[in-house]
Amino acid sequence: MTGAKILVIDDEKLIRWSLEKGLKQIGFQIETASTGEEGLQKFESFLPDAVILDNKLPGIQGLDILNELRSRDPRLVVLFMTAYGTIETAVEAMKRGAYDYINKPFVFEEIKQLLDKALYVQRLDTEVQSLKAVVQKQYDTENVISFSPAMRNILSMVDKIARSEAPTVMLTGESGTGKDLMARVIHERGPRRQRPFVTINCSALPESLLESELFGYEKGAFTDAKQMKRGQFELASGGTIYLDEIGEIALGLQVKLLQVIENRMFRRVGGVKDIMVESLIIAATNINLASAVEAGMFRRDLFYRLNLIPIELPPLRSRREDIVPIALYFIRKFNDEFHRHFKGLTDEVKKILTEYDWPGNIRELRNVIERIVILENDETIEANHLPIEMRQFAEVTGIPSHFVPAQELGIEIPLEGLSMEAVERELVVKALNITTQNQTKAAKMLDITRDSLRYKMKKFGLL
Ligand SMILES: Nc1ncnc2c1ncn2[C@@H]1O[C@H](COP(=O)(O)OP(=O)(O)OP(=O)(O)O)[C@@H](O)[C@H]1O
Ligand SMILES: [Mg+2]
Repeated sequence: MTGAKILVIDDEKLIRWSLEKGLKQIGFQIETASTGEEGLQKFESFLPDAVILDNKLPGIQGLDILNELRSRDPRLVVLFMTAYGTIETAVEAMKRGAYDYINKPFVFEEIKQLLDKALYVQRLDTEVQSLKAVVQKQYDTENVISFSPAMRNILSMVDKIARSEAPTVMLTGESGTGKDLMARVIHERGPRRQRPFVTINCSALPESLLESELFGYEKGAFTDAKQMKRGQFELASGGTIYLDEIGEIALGLQVKLLQVIENRMFRRVGGVKDIMVESLIIAATNINLASAVEAGMFRRDLFYRLNLIPIELPPLRSRREDIVPIALYFIRKFNDEFHRHFKGLTDEVKKILTEYDWPGNIRELRNVIERIVILENDETIEANHLPIEMRQFAEVTGIPSHFVPAQELGIEIPLEGLSMEAVERELVVKALNITTQNQTKAAKMLDITRDSLRYKMKKFGLL
């Protein structure tokens, strides 16, 4: 990779000179140091992508410098040079995180190739990390807001599934209800979190392309197959494969998918070798698969296989207690993202949001809040910031109190009884969490005065 910065640490002048000359010629930026101490200083000022480090140095030895360098930058590529015949040192260097070792005397070409490869891997790694961060931002699995009993039940089930050995999970629910998010939560809360999570949108590709995307193909399997290619089932190995919009998959491919799920094996297109399926399969759809089965559009046997563990995400309008907390969560999120300072919603807005039917569910709520946070300059979201159709909706329906009747919360008393005070404490803690410790809002949420909230906080040792 041209332009990359390389630091050479070696006490032999001739080696420094030849490496500097050779590497400069192919476009690297070079600095050199003749002792470990000087090397560490140069490291700070030059911030190299890779270091070529000799073991035998006057003063601090190479192995110790290696420790120091890697602790300052864990992604640093270190090529370790040892005298011929000192294999133990080389092994030790590898253990301490060197990328590779080179025996002296070396051939320049060898160093060049190692550097190219190491820097390439380093760059890929950086890209993967930054893509992961982007995805994480979009699907913030730490912050699944679940205030309603329905969502709390789903989340506790999701946690159980994540820790189980379940082979397949089926997510259903209207568009925007959080299926993608839940799929990621299942992946991230279980033992597969260190392995890949791959998403396939089954409606995005025609049948034959989808097949080779899923299972890969062998070289020569068809005209354009110039090289073997691994499919997503292989790439997801040990992780999770998320088949989104499974209802759109063609009947022919449904048969193949069923076989794969039943046998936990598949072959690349044009291949003869069986490959094990070692990943969790999560399928999702926003159509009613049972009626697709009745209509002959979806195979009954595949439906039953996939539907082993069904999770239905309820539409937002049937868990209205979640609306305001999710809106507040998005306000915080977009405040951070766009450096804005919204503090909350007026009571009128809370009522409108709670009453509105949200055909686009959480995605629609997210978009409404995001737009307001970007475009408006106030500190509080007010009714006139809302899209006109939402305001009209409120006018037509009239706005009732936004509190959900207590009997709809599904509160249950265990047979062995429970402490009312403990429940009250729990409610206060929740309200404070949801409102990010804003006492005025938390009090409003619980329909009590701020003073009485503070009284309770004192009583429960929260202040
Ligand atoms: N309980 C929740 N708490 C916070 N954010 C949520 C919650 N549920 C969903 N979201 C957010 O709502 C948005 C839409 O969710 P998601 O993409 O998972 O929906 P979906 O069901 O896959 O929709 P579609 O069927 O259209 O693909 C995402 O930004 C997601 O992070
Ligand atoms: Mg989705």
